[in-house]
Amino acid sequence: MRATLRQHVMSPSLERINLGHTPVMLKEALDQLQCKPGGIYVDATLGMAGHAQGILQATEPGGLLIGIDRDKESLEIARTLLKPFESRVRLFHENFKNLPLILNNLSVGLINGILIDLGASSYQLLSSERGFSFQGEAMLDMRMDRSQRLTAADLVNELSQEHLADIIYQFGEERLSRKIAAAIVAEREKAQITRCSQLADIVTRVLRVRGHGHIHPATRTFQALRIAVNQELEGLDSFFTEAATYLKPGGRMVVIAFHSLEDRIVKTAFKRLSGQCICNRPAGLCVCPRQSVARLITHRPLRAGAAELSANPRARSARLRVIEQA
Ligand SMILES: C[S@@+](CC[C@H](N)C(=O)[O-])C[C@H]1O[C@@H](n2cnc3c(N)ncnc32)[C@H](O)[C@@H]1O
Repeated sequence: MRATLRQHVMSPSLERINLGHTPVMLKEALDQLQCKPGGIYVDATLGMAGHAQGILQATEPGGLLIGIDRDKESLEIARTLLKPFESRVRLFHENFKNLPLILNNLSVGLINGILIDLGASSYQLLSSERGFSFQGEAMLDMRMDRSQRLTAADLVNELSQEHLADIIYQFGEERLSRKIAAAIVAEREKAQITRCSQLADIVTRVLRVRGHGHIHPATRTFQALRIAVNQELEGLDSFFTEAATYLKPGGRMVVIAFHSLEDRIVKTAFKRLSGQCICNRPAGLCVCPRQSVARLITHRPLRAGAAELSANPRARSARLRVIEQA
């Protein structure tokens, strides 16, 4: 499938971007979406349009793809990559939480499927000036939507020590969050922390002392700040509930999550939407509404296969879950 996707690349510079980008669990996502020729599909996290190109090919002739990304730069790259499908594509620089607004404005009625491939793209993570990576001299930025004012540097330099520690603990699941927050505050009293490398060094100094496993010591802290800057988990649960109401009967919502915090929200929302208990109390004490609006297709998340895992290490943490509108 990857070879077919590449034939739509428009220019040498975009070719480099596209070749560097491999959509995660592409086959599984397309199989689960059950794309129909002429169907209407939403890619709520368009990124480098890898999945979108697959959806457009699978919905020929006549299918419509509504693509959303809050990152304007990514959206413009995707627009160029999707040029061969131009007449069947509508793109929006928006937060996917505004999906109801977008669908109502387009007056398309109910849709056949929606794909949500959560988190940051490899383009964002690897881009030298976006400030997502601990490996580099970039400004500590991490905004997916660069029209937003708040950056990671603002959080690191302005939040109280306690609040910083809470963010690093909650969104990074970092056990040593309090020590890291204390080291950040001690350092920023000497000079503002503006570069990714500065923050990575501070975290490394705290964790190296304690011999902290094989991943880069700053991974969890950077993940936590990224989630906080972009408010990635906020309103996710209610978004799934609302998005499900826009699916046609038999229409599917496919979500790919990359860390346990996201995946827990997806799992709980899908259980609730399919009328299952989410309070985990004994049967007589259960307080769940148990109103089913959808069918749970994946009782366990789908994972990337061995071939994909060896070609794309990023797929290791991917978990794909699916519900189908009743
Ligand atoms: C993992 S990437 C998607 C990759 C894409 N499926 C592909 O094949 O290239 C996630 C993308 O979703 C975007 N994104 C994340 N949260 C978003 C949100 N709440 N609203 C809109 N876009 C979002 C990011 O900017 C990023 O470009």
